[in-house]
Amino acid sequence: VHIGILGGTGMEARGLALRFAAAGASVFLGSRQSERASRAADACNKALGGPLVRAGSNREMLASSGIVFITVPYPQAAAAVDACRWLFRPHHILVDVTVPVIFREGHAELAAAEDGTSNAEIVARCLPDGVPLVAAFKTIPAAILADLELPLNCDVIVSGDVAAARQKVIETAGLISSLRALDGGPLRTARTLERMAVLAIELNLRYKKKGARYRIEGL
Ligand SMILES: NC(=O)c1ccc[n+]([C@@H]2O[C@H](COP(=O)([O-])OP(=O)(O)OC[C@H]3O[C@@H](n4cnc5c(N)ncnc54)[C@H](OP(=O)(O)O)[C@@H]3O)[C@@H](O)[C@H]2O)c1
Repeated sequence: VHIGILGGTGMEARGLALRFAAAGASVFLGSRQSERASRAADACNKALGGPLVRAGSNREMLASSGIVFITVPYPQAAAAVDACRWLFRPHHILVDVTVPVIFREGHAELAAAEDGTSNAEIVARCLPDGVPLVAAFKTIPAAILADLELPLNCDVIVSGDVAAARQKVIETAGLISSLRALDGGPLRTARTLERMAVLAIELNLRYKKKGARYRIEGL
């Protein structure tokens, strides 16, 4: 599996890169500035104990990846995809992990569009026709992803309108042995996933923890 990360220089990118590289996937960090990506990859490779993560521009990343995670802050995600729109090809699947959250008086609040549309749906509209977007990993904290000593022991719910793309992301998530991937159905479900992510952040704040995440019983 060739995994790419668009905006691959933040904490969420680091967590995903470490987990997937440790699970044997090829990982390529992209950035608007190649040197930033190289520094991020060096830090990952130090933690992994070998040169498993590659780095370059977002353009180079898209040229050598199939499954592309977008790990950009939610207000900038649509513009980030727009800037690379011409580089997307039908073999790409964009995995949106963005959480529209704002912090007010010490609380996490949803910052969704007024009509309730999820950020995932907004980002999906920026892609060329035929390139599917899948929402996933929104509800798993970056700090937990980055701690390779810790089994995730949680579920990732995967939503998207193209069943084959959803399935591919479910299989890719399954590379991480301590994670269970569940089929969340159409992309509209991302509206719920984004709310669940905000709730997990709020619980982390209340309980002064970093690891709140979901495990669904009964499935
Ligand atoms: N932190 C968590 O626990 C967690 C959990 C689940 C989901 N998420 C989501 O993951 C995403 C990333 O979070 P983060 O804390 O890692 O973010 P971050 O460090 O603030 O930003 C990540 C990267 O986004 C890129 N970026 C910023 N503005 C951009 C623009 N206009 N165009 C293109 N790229 C841009 C930058 O990469 P370059 O400057 O190198 O290009 C930056 O390093 C967020 O949407 C967040 O909601 C976070």
